[in-house]
Amino acid sequence: MRTSTIKVFGKLTGLKKQQISRLEKLYRKKVPVTQIISVELAETLAEISHEINKEIAILINRRGQIVAINVGEYNGVDIEKFKNIRESQARLCGLRCIHTHPGGINYLSKADLTALALYRFDAVACIGVDSTGLFSKSRGETIKFADSMQVAFLTSKQESWRVLQGTTVRKACEENFIELLEEIEKEFSTNKDVLTLDTKEKAILVSLQTDNIGEDYVKESVSELEQLADTAGAEVIGQLSQKKHSPDSSTYLGSGKAQDLALMVQEKGANIVIVDAELSARQQKNLEQLVGVKTIDRTELILDIFAQRAKTKEGKLQVELAQLKYLYPRLAGSGLSLSRQGGGGTGGGIATRGPGETKLEIDRRRIKDRINALEKEVDEIKSHRSQQRKLREANNIPVVSIVGYTNAGKSTLLNALSNSDVLAENKLFATLDPTTRKIKLPELSDVLLTDTVGFIQKLPTALVKAFRATLEEVTQSDVILHVIDPVHPNCQEHIDTVYDILAQLDADKKPMITVINKIDLVKDEYLLEKYMHELPNPVKISALQRKRFKDLLSKIEEIIKI
Ligand code: GTP
Repeated sequence: MRTSTIKVFGKLTGLKKQQISRLEKLYRKKVPVTQIISVELAETLAEISHEINKEIAILINRRGQIVAINVGEYNGVDIEKFKNIRESQARLCGLRCIHTHPGGINYLSKADLTALALYRFDAVACIGVDSTGLFSKSRGETIKFADSMQVAFLTSKQESWRVLQGTTVRKACEENFIELLEEIEKEFSTNKDVLTLDTKEKAILVSLQTDNIGEDYVKESVSELEQLADTAGAEVIGQLSQKKHSPDSSTYLGSGKAQDLALMVQEKGANIVIVDAELSARQQKNLEQLVGVKTIDRTELILDIFAQRAKTKEGKLQVELAQLKYLYPRLAGSGLSLSRQGGGGTGGGIATRGPGETKLEIDRRRIKDRINALEKEVDEIKSHRSQQRKLREANNIPVVSIVGYTNAGKSTLLNALSNSDVLAENKLFATLDPTTRKIKLPELSDVLLTDTVGFIQKLPTALVKAFRATLEEVTQSDVILHVIDPVHPNCQEHIDTVYDILAQLDADKKPMITVINKIDLVKDEYLLEKYMHELPNPVKISALQRKRFKDLLSKIEEIIKI
């Protein structure tokens, strides 16, 4: 039990021995269980605080025992050390933090309220120390320095705290503190808004604008992240952005911003933080510990979507491989992340889903073994595919691959051209597994048409590698159909992304037809003409309305014949 601690923490230099020993003796004092503090204890704290002209903070548990005492400066006390002494993992930590303000200020600062949310204290209170030391008498008790007090509690509502209006120490002591806490805890357990039992995860998106990234790029990237989160099944309830020279190596955001994030998480009742970057294992772990809820990055989000959508054995294998490779370096030191495993399948929440049943608590060596085995299987798929390709080549069936940014309309096009029913929906990455269909061209006989995984900005290299078996279809095809969505405001960036990924796959020299899709939605004819003018072998179509397919098929034929 920590009650045996008699050490006083903090800035003790300059304090007299006798002052330290008076503080140490406070550990023996016990507060009546129903009271937030006793008048006597408040008075002693205020008196010493006045004498040393420094803030003093104490932590009291629900049994009324003082578990920590910390001395700060005149205008602040560092309660960093307190963060590991939570008594409970429940919504409130089972400890209240009471501190003095030697300047006499009797209201809580933003930092105090941040600490309330950050450490989930039962309550945070400040005692405004009456520096004049004038005596005030009431009901036979003498209060000299401890005069006014403000107490704040977390609430389960949107605003994160509620302030007890009794602004004198005596009044605060008259309140039944335990009853108040019980009420609050009841509120937490009935308020559906903040319960993590919610089926839909509530996400806060985090982004950083560093020196080498423009504001527009960040905005666009975050809006895509929002779509990705939606696709993964989360509801975005807030965003936080910081301008910073470069990412913090330990917590990604600067420490102040990270605390703002923790506060926002509490205020809004978020249960997941999604960072628009690739975090290092260390940054991810530290940030997660700081904010107290599951924290994932863009890669993990994309992996989660892939995990939900992989349908074929091949797709599942590749997703599992990518997930394990991502998690492998992050398994050292178990933070919150390790307790997130919700089992396989599509239950759980973001980043807990996986097509394989692999339990990630198993040790790293076994994971490494699994990675090796999966890599072998993917290689086998690759060689199987290459045999199939050889067979096709022998039969002289040309292969046409459809590529394009996610949501451009690839599946819709494949369905329409082949009258099949490949999944097409307005979600990012609807297609994960390559689907091949035979279609007839007007003059030539058959061609094989293959749909691929949608491309996306910042598609992590690890994923491109993991999906190499699928993406290699592209490198082996005779013609690439690049489907673009001209009405998307970031169409040009999407085109560039696709070109980049094709270059990564060494497929950028392949003959390409640019399929300008969704023309039924185009209002700006000038834009269409611009793309028609600038992009290789352009054809305008509407995959949804099956318009202008003839032009497209003739163009495919024309290119194949060359
Ligand atoms: P991923 O699998 O994520 O890469 O997407 P995709 O490129 O296969 O896109 P998909 O075919 O799933 O279509 C995305 C959305 O665009 C769906 O809501 C389609 O109905 C819609 N869409 C596709 N083609 C057209 C079109 O020509 N016109 C209009 N209006 N909508 C279209």
